[in-house]
Amino acid sequence: MAGLLIICDSHTGNTEKMAEAVAEGAKSVAGVEVNTKYFARPEELAQADAIIFGAPTYNHDVTIPIKQMLEEAAKANVQLNGKIGAAFGSYGWSGEAPKFVLEIMKNKFEMLVLEPPLLVRYEPDQNVLGMCRDFGKRVSESLIHVA
Ligand SMILES: Cc1cc2nc3c(=O)[nH]c(=O)nc-3n(C[C@H](O)[C@H](O)[C@H](O)COP(=O)(O)O)c2cc1C
Repeated sequence: MAGLLIICDSHTGNTEKMAEAVAEGAKSVAGVEVNTKYFARPEELAQADAIIFGAPTYNHDVTIPIKQMLEEAAKANVQLNGKIGAAFGSYGWSGEAPKFVLEIMKNKFEMLVLEPPLLVRYEPDQNVLGMCRDFGKRVSESLIHVA
């Protein structure tokens, strides 16, 4: 069984709604165990085969819990190279956070980033939630394909 970890921060619930739909899509693929968390320790990141971050943009940046997680993982020298990474997030006008997270996944941790970031303005509607489900499903499928 491959393990997919979804880590999400959300202040007003928009990225969290996206995360629920991403998880739903990811779970629709047989052979993938999906866990959704607000925070993961370095060893939990190391245990996952794929990691998806849900990162809302505040003040043109990634929020503190996600920053801390990535910093702790870097300090612990956790080996994530070759694992699949993806990112999504709700935003209002600039939407930097998921792009920043993906850059760190790719350049610092040498993860395999196959999907561009999925960005959604404010609250996701039904159409967007469908896109989130498809996004989660694609990441799960690529995990099965790579494994
Ligand atoms: C204080 C504050 C700062 C924000 N800064 C940004 C920003 O720099 N860029 C942006 O695209 N959106 C910004 N937003 C909008 C949020 O990203 C948007 O409301 C998003 O839906 C929040 O997601 P969440 O519900 O998952 O927390 C800001 C919102 C607030 C309240």
